[in-house]
Amino acid sequence: MRPEDSLPEILAHAWSLLVRGGADRKSPVHTPVIASVDADGLPHARVMVLRKADPAAATLRLHTDARSPKVTQLSGKPVAVLAYHPVEQVQLRIAGTARVLNDDEVVNGFWDQSTPFARRCYLAEHPPGTPLPGPTSGLPAWIEGQQPTLEQIAPARANFATLWIEVTAIDWLHLANSGHRRAVFRSTNDWAGEWVAP
Ligand SMILES: Cc1cc2nc3c(=O)[nH]c(=O)nc-3n(C[C@H](O)[C@H](O)[C@H](O)COP(=O)(O)O)c2cc1C
Repeated sequence: MRPEDSLPEILAHAWSLLVRGGADRKSPVHTPVIASVDADGLPHARVMVLRKADPAAATLRLHTDARSPKVTQLSGKPVAVLAYHPVEQVQLRIAGTARVLNDDEVVNGFWDQSTPFARRCYLAEHPPGTPLPGPTSGLPAWIEGQQPTLEQIAPARANFATLWIEVTAIDWLHLANSGHRRAVFRSTNDWAGEWVAP
């Protein structure tokens, strides 16, 4: 039996890729695609940084601008996450439910942990997607190219939100010359997993 022929090992491997993706900027799983559907039923997909994956809680954490369109599209709604690890030749297609938090103590902690440069993005004057008169970053002119002080950055906290994904299914596809393998794991099945055609 190949290691990839054991369902429990595959589930552990999928989560290990996600945990590494949350911790290692060089991992291709660090920047998954997060997909949502808008009020008109139109699909939207965008790259986001995976901040942390928690296998025990079956959650993923990401950060975003509370004013961005994705927040409305995702709050309390189904979400799809897509990542591909080219070295491992593994595709992860994750389904879950999204929750957006921006006003509790836990979120304050994540805000405080991020670098002033990372926090500077949240000073943008207009919500992401707002039409602009020309090619600008959207940041106030006084902060362009500068590292903000803690005092300067404080008002941006209101724009910072955490996106939590409660994972409900993981679809793992491994490409191999010796034979592709694909398995799907669902929370409703206690994560037991089942084989499906690749
Ligand atoms: C490498 C990379 C990382 C990104 N990381 C994030 C992120 O962590 N959070 C985020 O909100 N947007 C991130 N973005 C920008 C989004 O892809 C997107 O353009 C923006 O959030 C607006 O999305 P929306 O209009 O769907 O809300 C990232 C883009 C790239 C290319």
